[in-house]
Amino acid sequence: MPIDPYFSSTETGDTAFAVEGATVKFGSGVLSEIGDDACGLGMYRVAVFTDRWVAKLKPLETVVDSLRRTGIDAVVYDEVAVEPTAVSFQAGARFAKEGRFDGFVSVGGGSVIDTCKAANLLSTYPDDLMAYVNAPVGAAKAVPGPLKPHIACPTTFGTASECTGHAICDFPEMGAKSGIVSKRLKPVLGLLDPTVLHNLPPFILAANGFDVLTHAIESLTARPYTHRPRPDKPHLRPTSQGANPFSDFSCLEAIRIAGKYLERAVLDPANVSVREPLMFAGMLAGIGFNNAGCHIPHGMSYAVSGLARNYFAPGYPQDRPFVPHGVAVVVNAPAAFRFTGPACPDRHMQAAEALGVDIREVKPEEAGAVLADWFVGMMRKTGIPNGLSGVGFRCEDVAALTAKAMPQRRLLENSPRPVGKKDLEHLFREAIAYW
Ligand SMILES: NC(=O)c1ccc[n+]([C@@H]2O[C@H](COP(=O)([O-])OP(=O)(O)OC[C@H]3O[C@@H](n4cnc5c(N)ncnc54)[C@H](O)[C@@H]3O)[C@@H](O)[C@H]2O)c1
Ligand SMILES: [Fe+2]
Repeated sequence: MPIDPYFSSTETGDTAFAVEGATVKFGSGVLSEIGDDACGLGMYRVAVFTDRWVAKLKPLETVVDSLRRTGIDAVVYDEVAVEPTAVSFQAGARFAKEGRFDGFVSVGGGSVIDTCKAANLLSTYPDDLMAYVNAPVGAAKAVPGPLKPHIACPTTFGTASECTGHAICDFPEMGAKSGIVSKRLKPVLGLLDPTVLHNLPPFILAANGFDVLTHAIESLTARPYTHRPRPDKPHLRPTSQGANPFSDFSCLEAIRIAGKYLERAVLDPANVSVREPLMFAGMLAGIGFNNAGCHIPHGMSYAVSGLARNYFAPGYPQDRPFVPHGVAVVVNAPAAFRFTGPACPDRHMQAAEALGVDIREVKPEEAGAVLADWFVGMMRKTGIPNGLSGVGFRCEDVAALTAKAMPQRRLLENSPRPVGKKDLEHLFREAIAYW
């Protein structure tokens, strides 16, 4: 008997799921322990990646002080681009190659941690960035071997990049976002100190919170692992392996915690105590999606990020237009949940209940719409833009958005309901405005 009927076996589907854990320390003060952690990992000369805004904040000072106090040669690289591009990934890789480091530390949000992962890879096993990027954008070459130790110190909480083997960047000339996915990219240690979030501006907090919620809900509602074709060889089982009993429990808890605290954190920025549970939820969702995979909202988001041309997000750097990742995802989420609802109503119902919806009167055929409506309510209360029109897109952009989202096979194939070109056009149209 399967653990849950959702995982009933199929003739050609997989019969096993893999569990990739994450090694982390969580709690106030863990950043000052990094010198000891780095010594334990045999690091003598480390590259410390950050961006120029985080470079001015306390967490970087704490990390560098702790490393240097233990005699480690720590060299800071603060040129990471927020929402990195292929060019900024390559610049980070050049710095890493020239510095001949034996270890890496990242202090910042997903942009910094992802850039550090790519720099570690490209300096350890030099090749074109495109060789490693997911197909069909790149050649999806397997990472040849273990990387140098990387300790990640997140200063945001949405991406959970410290728990994942993903490194995502923008390819502006292609109008697309993609990345490298390999479990070898996962940092050896994540240091999560919730006090780093005390100065995070409310809009960045909201974007991160919805990144957490979409990671968790997409993983919970993903195609079950038993419906994904069995791999020819065990090592070919993908990271986006589908919903499974392990990711279910971390994701449901992440939805429950983020559902309880996100609005409070955004609407009352002075109440910094509620940021700690949000960081914990981000970690749980990260471990979950790293073992299940996201689906339609994230797949659509890469087209939204790739084609952004005139949106400047409050609280983020204003040097170029871009749609922050969490926003690029959540603007698609209500449309996607209405679409996927009929494929697994129980799971959409579970997600809605974990968010706080009273589901006693909800019929299975309404589950997707009820979840979507609740999401729209949360978006409005936390100042998220009104769908794609709120971040600069119009109905005329639907064809271009669809063309850019179609190649996101890893994500679209993980949807519980098959999604083709016509469906994507429909979803982008539905996502133009919600209120
Ligand atoms: N690797 C993964 O698994 C994964 C998952 C989701 C998203 N991503 C990627 O991560 C990137 C987004 O990362 P993010 O949302 O963490 O944001 P980010 O790293 O882009 O940072 C957003 C802004 O917040 C600032 N900032 C960071 N920490 C701060 C702090 N403590 N106080 C004040 N300001 C602070 C930064 O300087 C920046 O201006 C995107 O490129 C996205 O595609 C990666
Ligand atoms: Fe995400």
